[in-house]
Amino acid sequence: MDKMKAFQVTGFGGLEKLILNTLDIPEPKRGEVLVKIHATALNNSDIWMREGAYGTDTSSNASAGWRREGIQFPRIPGSDIAGEIVKIGDDVEREFLHKHVVLFPFQSSGETGYEHMSSDIAYIGSEFDGGYAEYVIWKADLCYEAPLTDLTESSTIPVSGLTAWHMITRTNMKKGQNVLINGATGGVGSLAVQIASKVFGAKVIALVRDHSLDAKMKELGANETVSYKSTQLVSEIKEAAQGEIDIVVDVVGDTTFSTSLAVLKKGGSFVTSGASSGVVTELDLRTLYLKHLNILGSTLGTREEFSELLKAVKEGEIKPLVDKTFPLIEAKEAQTYFKESKQLGKVVLLP
Ligand SMILES: NC(=O)c1ccc[n+]([C@@H]2O[C@H](COP(=O)([O-])OP(=O)(O)OC[C@H]3O[C@@H](n4cnc5c(N)ncnc54)[C@H](OP(=O)(O)O)[C@@H]3O)[C@@H](O)[C@H]2O)c1
Repeated sequence: MDKMKAFQVTGFGGLEKLILNTLDIPEPKRGEVLVKIHATALNNSDIWMREGAYGTDTSSNASAGWRREGIQFPRIPGSDIAGEIVKIGDDVEREFLHKHVVLFPFQSSGETGYEHMSSDIAYIGSEFDGGYAEYVIWKADLCYEAPLTDLTESSTIPVSGLTAWHMITRTNMKKGQNVLINGATGGVGSLAVQIASKVFGAKVIALVRDHSLDAKMKELGANETVSYKSTQLVSEIKEAAQGEIDIVVDVVGDTTFSTSLAVLKKGGSFVTSGASSGVVTELDLRTLYLKHLNILGSTLGTREEFSELLKAVKEGEIKPLVDKTFPLIEAKEAQTYFKESKQLGKVVLLP
């Protein structure tokens, strides 16, 4: 049987749990395809899955995967995958062969429009083997035509883009609204800036580390940028927006939370899908009720949103941002870089 190189996570823990192995190339079953991976973009979930960093409903310190339960190890991580279909299982039409695709990142039995909320949701790289490998098996009908001819660029879109798109649709964002995007230089944030401004027509204030990033953020569609290091953050954000904020799109969490609520107008919305700076925060309930605020949680998104996202990428409304690539065998170095560096956009592994 032919072999492939793959990294497997062997249990919750540090980088010592990410092990390079030689494995059999898997065989596609009925309805499945074998994808030769060209590129896998990194996400925090690759690292959090290994660290067991998701906690549970009753204990924020408990070790758990993203479903807030255990993971079956060994597991190949990696959720943002682009490649070529090189083999098909039974009942898959031959025209799938040799297609260049990106993978919708999860399977579920949820009804159309509620796929991301189904209790049996299973994520690639967590409940299924993922992209830190040379090959991966996936359902044929969850393989979508790659939006760009460059598969490295295409790999940066699925998870971050779907997450950003769904966060924005959760808020019913309208043209001309003042939108603050926290974590605007990251994987999710840099796509949220583009989607909010270029697809939904919002006026975007991007919260960034410092003003050296202004030109890049404006190119992505931000109207203004504000540094999160400012000591006058609330007033600077309101000044940049020329008023109060309608919607805050947040993946930063603790450090920006009170500022986010302070800049929102009455009846405004705060949507979160992540917490890079800290998962536990303080909430003054008076701010919430006296300002009639909406706090919305969001994870991943629907297949329809995924199609809309890929169309917007294909048509050039949204551009991928590749910060740095690493060969697959340097997956550990790539995760260290991803965690420690202040990258702009995505880090990608190339088998
Ligand atoms: N629920 C979902 O469906 C879903 C999907 C994807 C991601 N996520 C989560 O979303 C979060 C962001 O993911 P990502 O891929 O965008 O990560 P990323 O690429 O690492 O970006 C993180 C962003 O947060 C900013 N940030 C970090 N610490 C900060 C602080 N103390 N103050 C202000 N800004 C800070 C970073 O800015 P600097 O570089 O300047 O530090 C960067 O812009 C993660 O928690 C991830 O797990 C959730």
